[in-house]
Amino acid sequence: MEWFVKAFLKASITWLALGVTLGVAMAVHPQLIIYRPAHVHMNLLGFVTMMIYGVAYHVIPRFTGHPLHNRSVAAVQWWLANAGLALMVIGFCLAPNAVPAAPFVLGTGGVLAAVAAYCFVYNIWRTIDGARRRPGATPV
Ligand code: HEM
Ligand code: HEM
Repeated sequence: MEWFVKAFLKASITWLALGVTLGVAMAVHPQLIIYRPAHVHMNLLGFVTMMIYGVAYHVIPRFTGHPLHNRSVAAVQWWLANAGLALMVIGFCLAPNAVPAAPFVLGTGGVLAAVAAYCFVYNIWRTIDGARRRPGATPV
């Protein structure tokens, strides 16, 4: 299994642990529901999306019979996705407390997370098409 597949799976379950912890905290202390967007994105962009990134990077090359188009893009994507989501969560926590930097932090994180998603779209699309292999691509 590629290291970035394991890294996406471990990031996914880490975000799940963080997301459900905030969920329980919100359930117990309803005043914390101001942090609901942080909870939503830890679970949906963290747990769900990163699980899909990891599983897809393992399975789609095998389903299609084509090696993953670009392993470096997948590695960069891991850092973008996790740094982006971490900044988004910080921004979502700062915003209800009227911290002036909140939109900047949230916006920066959102752009990084979106670029990570675009990397995934590109890499999986090219893999499905069996596009010409890049240096560093490994056989399935
Ligand atoms: C132990 C697990 C969890 C607990 C205790 C929990 C608790 C909560 C609470 C208290 C709210 C706020 C409800 C409100 O606004 O009144 C909420 C919202 C939400 N949670 Fe969770 N949650 C958990 C797991 C998850 C997971 C795993 C996901 C997604 C995979 C998720 C997705 C959402 C979403 C999308 C909302 C927003 C719903 C809306 O917009 O109305 N939650 N959760
Ligand atoms: C680059 C990626 C993303 C960015 C920048 C982003 C940004 C946002 C923002 C700014 C909000 C409004 C939050 C507020 O009410 O204050 C929001 C809400 C929401 N987003 Fe995202 N989002 C992203 C990806 C996703 C994904 C992949 C999912 C689901 C798989 C998702 C599900 C939701 C949901 C359910 C809400 C409503 C939250 C609530 O009920 O409080 N988002 N998003």
